[in-house]
Amino acid sequence: MKPVEIAKDIYCLSAIDWNIRDFHGYSTYKGTTYNAYLILDDKITLIDTVKKQFADDLIDGISQIIDPKKIDYVVSNHTEMDHSGGLPRIMHKVGEDKPLYCSQMGQKNLSRHFPQNWNYHPVENGGKLSLGNRTLTFLETRMLHWPDSMFSYMKEEKLLFSSDAFGQHYAGLERFDDQIGEAIMPHARKYFANILLPFSPLILKLVDSVTEMGLELDMLCPDHGIIWRKDPGKIINSYVGWSQQKPKRKALVIYDTMWHSTEKMATTLVEALGEEGVDAKSIHLRSWHRSDVLTEVLDAGAIIIGSPTLNNGIFPTVSDFLTYMKGLKPKNKVGAAFGSYGWSGEAVKLINEHLGAMKFDVVDPGLKVQFVPDNECIEACQELGKKISRALPSE
Ligand code: FEO
Repeated sequence: MKPVEIAKDIYCLSAIDWNIRDFHGYSTYKGTTYNAYLILDDKITLIDTVKKQFADDLIDGISQIIDPKKIDYVVSNHTEMDHSGGLPRIMHKVGEDKPLYCSQMGQKNLSRHFPQNWNYHPVENGGKLSLGNRTLTFLETRMLHWPDSMFSYMKEEKLLFSSDAFGQHYAGLERFDDQIGEAIMPHARKYFANILLPFSPLILKLVDSVTEMGLELDMLCPDHGIIWRKDPGKIINSYVGWSQQKPKRKALVIYDTMWHSTEKMATTLVEALGEEGVDAKSIHLRSWHRSDVLTEVLDAGAIIIGSPTLNNGIFPTVSDFLTYMKGLKPKNKVGAAFGSYGWSGEAVKLINEHLGAMKFDVVDPGLKVQFVPDNECIEACQELGKKISRALPSE
C-alpha cells in the first residue's frame, strides 16, 4: 500500500481491490477501493480501516509513515465490514486499550460484529475531539449508509471524511478527481443509484443543514474511490440533482422472455416510444446486471416491465429485479406492465402490484397476449407506447 499525503501530515491509505466483481449483489466491474486516513498531530489518529483481507496492507501503509503503536485514537465512521473488517487486526497492533471513537449506534453495531471489549468512546452529533493543533467534529449521518454512519470534519484543513457518501466503486491508481476527470462520474452515479438512492430525502436535508452550518470544504474524502479536491461542489451538486429524482423524457423497457413473444412486445414498445421522441431503451434482464439497470432507472421517467408468465408467476429474473428496485425506492416514475402467457397469465397483474407498491403512476391496466403477439397485440403495444409518452415530461 502506498500512502498518499493529501494535506500536511494527513495521509490517505487506500486498499485497492482490483478484482472484486460482485460487492454484495452490486456489479463492481472496475473493482473498488477502501480508504482509511491517518492524521499526524499531537494525537495521531486513524479514521476507518479497510476490508479484513487488506488489514495487513493497511498496517504496511501505516508503518511506512509511523510505528502503528504510536496511533493514539481510532475513529470508526461506519460499521459495515468493508471499513471495519480490519479493525480487530488494527486494534491488536495499535493497542486494544486505545480509545475508539464512533457514534452511539456505532458502538452498538461494532459490538454486534466483534466480541472484543474495546475502549469505546461514543460521540454525539456535533461532538469534538482535539488532536492538538487540529480538531475533528463528528456529524451524525444516520442511514448514510447505516444507522451508525457519521462524518468527521476537520475545520482547520476544511476536510470532510465522509465515509460511504460521495464514494465510488472504482479501482485505480488515481487518488483525486483532477487525476481522472469526468471518467469517474459514471461510477459515482452508479454508486449513488445502488446504495444511496433510498436515502435521497435525508441527503437533501443533510446538504441543507451543512449549507446552513456554513461548513467550508476544500476536500471531500470518502472511504471508496477518489477524493474530491478540485471541485467538491461538483459531486455535492450531483447528489442534490440525483436525490431530487426529476424524471426525464426517458423510458426503460425492462423484460425477460422465453420464446421471444414478450421480447417482440418490448421491441414494439421501444420503437413506438422512440417515434414519440422518448429516449427509450430495451433492457433484457439476462444481458444486463441489475445494478446497471438501476443506474439507468435514476433519471428515467417511465419504467415498463415485461415478463412471461411462468408457473403462475413472474419470470425469476424479473422478480429479482422488481425486488431489488423496490428496496431502492425510486420515485416519480410512470409504470406499465406487459407480457405473454400460455394459459393462466398472472404475470402482468403481479407486476402491477409491484409497481403500485412502489407508488409508480401505473398508466394502463397492462398488456398481455396468449402465446404469440398478433397484429392486434402489436397495435396495442404501439398505443401503449403513445400513452406512456403522453405521461412523460415534454422536455
Ligand atoms: Fe462502504 Fe456501507 O460500506
